[in-house]
Amino acid sequence: MTYTVGYFIGSLSSKSINRTLSKALIRLAPESLHFEEIPIKDLPLYNRDLDADYPPEGRALKAAIERVDAVLFITPEFNRDIPGSLKNAIDWASRPWGTNSLNRKPSAIIGASPGKIGTAVAQQNLRGILAFCNSPQMSAPEAYIQFTPGLITDDGEVSDASTEQFLRHFMEEFGLFVERVLRVLPQG
Ligand code: FNR
Repeated sequence: MTYTVGYFIGSLSSKSINRTLSKALIRLAPESLHFEEIPIKDLPLYNRDLDADYPPEGRALKAAIERVDAVLFITPEFNRDIPGSLKNAIDWASRPWGTNSLNRKPSAIIGASPGKIGTAVAQQNLRGILAFCNSPQMSAPEAYIQFTPGLITDDGEVSDASTEQFLRHFMEEFGLFVERVLRVLPQG
C-alpha cells in the first residue's frame, strides 16, 4: 500500500530550518509514503464569524487535509509553544463545529531548533491540541532535532550518519503507524 502524507511546516520563514528538515525527511522516508505540503501562510486569522461562509483559504486547507491519509507536523518552537501560524491553521482545520478535518487523521510531530531541547516543549503542547482534535498520534519515537550548522544541506542531505539513521527510523515507524491506524479506524 502507498499512503499520502500532508505535511505542515510550522515556520513561514523562507530560510526555515524546519523546511530544510522536511526535505531530509522526504528523502529518507519509505517508498510507501508520498508527500504533499499543506500550505498555511495565506490563511487569515481564524474568526468564528466566518464559519457560515468559510473563506477559500480555509476551505482549501480542509480539503487538503481530507485528501491525504495522514499528516506530519514539522515545526519550530516559538516562546515554548508552536508558532501562532500553525495554531491558526489547526483552528481553521478543526471548524466549523462538527466538520473537524483532523478527526481520526493519523499524525506525527517533529521539529528542529538551534537549541538543545529541539522544540520539545512546543511538541508537547501540540500533542494536547491534536488529542483534542481526535488525531491519533505516533507517540514514539519522539524527535527533537538540534539543528547545528551544516547538519542538513539545502537539498535535504544529512551530513551526520547517526542523525540520518535516526530520521530514517522515524519515518519508517511513521509509515508503520499510519498503516496500523488506517487498518482499524474508519476515515471520513
Ligand atoms: C524562537 N526560537 C526559539 N527556539 C527554541 O528552541 N525555543 C523557543 O521557545 C524559541 N522561541 C522563539 C521565538 C521566536 C518568535 C523566534 C523567531 C525564534 C529560535 C528558533 O528555534 C529559531 O529561530 C529557528 O530557526 C526557527 O525555526 P525556522 O523558522 O528556521 O524553521
